[in-house]
Amino acid sequence: EAAGKSGYPHFMLKEIHEQPESLRQTIHGRIETLAGKVSLEEFDAGAFEDVERVQFVSMGTSHHASMYAAAQLTARGMTANAYMAGEYADCPAPIDEHTLVVAVTQSGETADTMNAVRRARDAGARTLAVTNVVGSSVTRECDESLFIRAGPEIGVAATKTFSSQVVALTLLGERIAEDSTGVQRAAVRSLLEGLADLPGDVQQVLDESNAEGIADALYGCDSYFFLGRGPAHSVALEGALKFKEISYEHAEGFAASELKHGPLALVTENTPVFGVITGEDDLKVISNLKEVQARGAPVIVVAPASFESEVEFADYHLPIPESHPEVAGILANVQLQLVSYHAADQLGRPIDKPRNLAKSVTVE
Ligand code: G6P
Repeated sequence: EAAGKSGYPHFMLKEIHEQPESLRQTIHGRIETLAGKVSLEEFDAGAFEDVERVQFVSMGTSHHASMYAAAQLTARGMTANAYMAGEYADCPAPIDEHTLVVAVTQSGETADTMNAVRRARDAGARTLAVTNVVGSSVTRECDESLFIRAGPEIGVAATKTFSSQVVALTLLGERIAEDSTGVQRAAVRSLLEGLADLPGDVQQVLDESNAEGIADALYGCDSYFFLGRGPAHSVALEGALKFKEISYEHAEGFAASELKHGPLALVTENTPVFGVITGEDDLKVISNLKEVQARGAPVIVVAPASFESEVEFADYHLPIPESHPEVAGILANVQLQLVSYHAADQLGRPIDKPRNLAKSVTVE
C-alpha cells in the first residue's frame, strides 16, 4: 500500500496532487482552442439538437459537480436541474421526448443513481452516463457514456474525480447548448482557453498553497461554514462535505443568500466562515462575509489573486490564479481540498477511510 501512495502519507493527498495530470487526461483531444470548439468524439454532429431540458442525477460529490454543470447550462438559457438521485428515484421529475437525463457517478455503481437511471429510462428519457469507470453498471444501463478519464481514485473522499467531472460536464454542457440552440457562443473560446490552462493553474495552486497554515490556525473550532453563489455555491457545498467527512468536524455549505434566513444564528467567533469567489459576479458574497465577521467569525476568502484589495478585509486569503470564472471554481475547490486534508491530518483522522463511509454506496 505504501508503494501505491508514491511517497505521500495518504491516497487523498496523492490524488489531490495528481489533478494536473488527471485533468490533462480529461481534456485530451477534446478541446480545439484555435477553432474555439469542443470536440467530443463520443457524439455525432448535432447529437443534442432535440434536447430541451437536462436533468442530472447523482449523489455526494458527484451531485455537487452536477449542480455546477446545471448552473452553467441555466446561464446558457437551458432548462437544467441537478437532482439528488435518491430523491429522483422515488419521485422522478417530469420527462418528455426532449429530456436528457445525465447520470453522474465516479464509480458507476451507486445504487440511488442506478435507480434514478432506471426510473428515467422507464419513463422514456434518453440517458447518458458520465463516469470514471469503463464497463461499470451505469454504462450498461444508459444509452450513451462519456468517460471523465481521471484514473483510479482510492481515497474515500472524492477529489480528482470532482475536478474531472466538472471539466467533462462543462464540455458536454457546451455541446448540448450549442446543438440545441444552433449557435456557437462567441464566449466559448475564453472558456476553452481557461480549461486548457487548468492543469497548469492547478499545479500553481498545489505549489504555492497556504492552506496548511490556515488549517493549522483554525482546526478544532465548533463549526465551519462555506458560502458561495451560482456555480460557487456547489463549490461551497463540496468544501463543507470534504471537511466534515474527513475531519469529523461539523461543517455546512450554504448559498450566500441563505445566510440571513437561519445559518447566521449559528455564527460566533468559534465558527470560521469560508467564502468562495470565482469572479466579479461573486463579489456580492463579500457583504455576507463582512456580516459574519462583524459577529466575530474568522473569515477565509478563496478568490483570484487579483481581488487582493477587495478581499483585504478577510482574516485569511487563499489565492487562486487568474482564470475563466467558470473554471475558477475548480481551482477554489483544490484550495478547499487542501484545507480539509490538513485539518483532518492535524486531528489525526484516518483520512483515506473515514469511519462509517464507503467509497461506493451500492445499497439504498
Ligand atoms: C460515496 C462516496 C463519495 C461519492 C458518493 C457518490 O458517498 O464516499 O465520495 O461522492 O458516494 O459516488 P459516485 O461513485 O456515484 O460518484
